[in-house]
Amino acid sequence: MKYLVFGATGNIGSRVAQRLIDSGARPSVFVRSAKRAKALFGDQVDIHIGDLENPGPSLAKALVGVDGILLVTDGSDLEKRDRAVSFAASHAGVGHVVKLSTLDVRTAIGTGPWHAQGEDAIRESGVAFTFIQAAGFMSNALSWSESIRREGVLRSSTGGGKIAFIHPDDIAAVATASLTTRDYDGQALAITGPEALSYGEMAVAIGRAIGKPVRFEEITDGQAYARTVEWAGKGAYADALVDIWRAVRESRLDTVTDGVKQITGREPIPFDQWAVENASSFQ
Ligand SMILES: NC(=O)c1ccc[n+]([C@@H]2O[C@H](COP(=O)([O-])OP(=O)(O)OC[C@H]3O[C@@H](n4cnc5c(N)ncnc54)[C@H](OP(=O)(O)O)[C@@H]3O)[C@@H](O)[C@H]2O)c1
Repeated sequence: MKYLVFGATGNIGSRVAQRLIDSGARPSVFVRSAKRAKALFGDQVDIHIGDLENPGPSLAKALVGVDGILLVTDGSDLEKRDRAVSFAASHAGVGHVVKLSTLDVRTAIGTGPWHAQGEDAIRESGVAFTFIQAAGFMSNALSWSESIRREGVLRSSTGGGKIAFIHPDDIAAVATASLTTRDYDGQALAITGPEALSYGEMAVAIGRAIGKPVRFEEITDGQAYARTVEWAGKGAYADALVDIWRAVRESRLDTVTDGVKQITGREPIPFDQWAVENASSFQ
């Protein structure tokens, strides 16, 4: 089987590409930078250079002979890229598109509406699909590393609200199983970590992992927005993040599912383990 991975230099796509390689496949990757792809995968992948903002003939070329796609796109206009890839895939006779989506499609919170539009575009294309509706990623916690390193503090507007962050490896395992087994065609898979935790509880877990206490400090939505604008700029993405944190605070994002167990046959990885694996980022 021939697989093509979009977002292969990113958090989830790189893990899916590596899992495919480990299973004996030779995936193709559609990347903006051959150098980054080579640094990650050496000569174990076929590299197609292109930019989904303006793919030109690179997209159709990359799709020749492909059976299954992992599609990772981002941004408030991601529907455009999901539409372009899925219609081109349908035209090229690709069997299956696995889209990395979000659990927030179900609640229309944060980036949920962006991904809902992307999912609709893929349905319209007629290609067989699986949507991976993932909860917030544990790796989002890396954005707390600077304040934890410098001050031993995690600041957030999430109050005592909880969310069941999921380990990126669990997302990759579910996405790879969807691609390789085709058992989940036509489904939207809701996957979360094993338990909903407050940001205060995650601060304690990181403190345990680094052997130093980490304090949780509540900030307002306005403060959270101002801090986010510093690195993300004003606009839809900063608005979406503040929306997500507010929803966490109001206990609208504390869903826990057994999706990872159902699909992989094992329990999802707990936040404690993620914190130990990533302790050096907080020290
Ligand atoms: N973080 C969360 O809590 C969360 C939860 C649920 C769902 N999601 C969804 O997960 C997705 C992000 O996944 P991720 O964390 O794996 O992403 P990531 O690490 O930010 O990687 C993004 C990938 O997309 C590639 N890319 C970006 N623009 C491109 C373009 N125009 N043409 C070709 N490739 C392009 C990047 O390539 P370069 O290396 O060239 O930049 C990179 O490989 C988003 O759709 C997000 O909404 C996130």
